[in-house]
Amino acid sequence: MERLQKVLAHAGVASRRHCEELIVQGKVQVNGKVVQELGTRVDPATDKITVNGKPIRIEQHVYLMLYKPTGVITSVSDPQGRRVVTDLLKGVKERVYPVGRLDYDTSGLLLLTNDGDLANRLAHPSYEIDKVYRAWVRGVPSQDKVKMLATGIRLEDGMTAPGEARLLKATATKDKALIELTIHEGRNRQVRRMCEAIGHPVVTLERIRLGFLTLEGLEPGQYRPLTSAEVEKLKQGLVQTRKSRPRQR
Ligand code: URA
Repeated sequence: MERLQKVLAHAGVASRRHCEELIVQGKVQVNGKVVQELGTRVDPATDKITVNGKPIRIEQHVYLMLYKPTGVITSVSDPQGRRVVTDLLKGVKERVYPVGRLDYDTSGLLLLTNDGDLANRLAHPSYEIDKVYRAWVRGVPSQDKVKMLATGIRLEDGMTAPGEARLLKATATKDKALIELTIHEGRNRQVRRMCEAIGHPVVTLERIRLGFLTLEGLEPGQYRPLTSAEVEKLKQGLVQTRKSRPRQR
C-alpha cells in the first residue's frame, strides 16, 4: 500500500505537491469514491484511481539485474552517442535506470529499476550493502597492503570505511594479482583509487556480488528480472534500521 499522492506522482500526473492539491480539491477518486484525505493509502495494483474522471496509467515496478560488460556507460543516454546500459535491454517498456554506477571499464552486477524509492534508499550510505569486487592489479600487493585496503585508505575525499580484502592469486611471473575487495560505500572510482593508493593500479575490475545477489547464470551483456523473493529481501534490508540490521551479505 502506498500514499495516494505518491502513486499519482509516480504515474506522471503531476509533481507530488500538485497531486496533493488535486486530492484536496476533490478531483481524485479511488474505486469510484472521491478521496480528499492526503494520508490515504492505496494499492496501485488493484485500486481503480481516476483524476478528473480519467484513469491514471500505472507503471509496474521492474527490477533487473544486468551483467554489465566493459565498454558501456552506466546511464540511460549519452550525448556522445556511446553505448549505454539500457541499450542492452530488449523489450523492456518501462523506463528503468541504473542504481549506482559502474565505470565504463568496469564489468559486473548492476541493478536497474523504475522504483525510485528503492533506488534512492539502496544508494544511501546508511544502507551498508556489501559490494564485492574482483580486481586484477599490477604487481603483487604485500599482506600489509591488502590489510590496508580492508582497514581504510586515505583518499583525497577522506578515509575509506572498513571493509574486507584478500589476495586470491598471482600470476606465475608475479606481474599481476587477483584481489577480492568488499566495500560498503559507493564513491566515484573508489576501488581503482584504493588500489592506486597502495601502488597496485587496477588492470581489470568486476563487481561480482551486491548483498545476496550474484551474477550466477548470466553472461556479460545478459540480464534477468529479480524474483519477487529477491525484491522482498532487498526491501526488507531497507526497512530495518542501521543499528538493528545485520549487514546485508
Ligand atoms: N570502484 C571503481 O573504481 N569503479 C567501479 O566501477 C566501481 C567501484
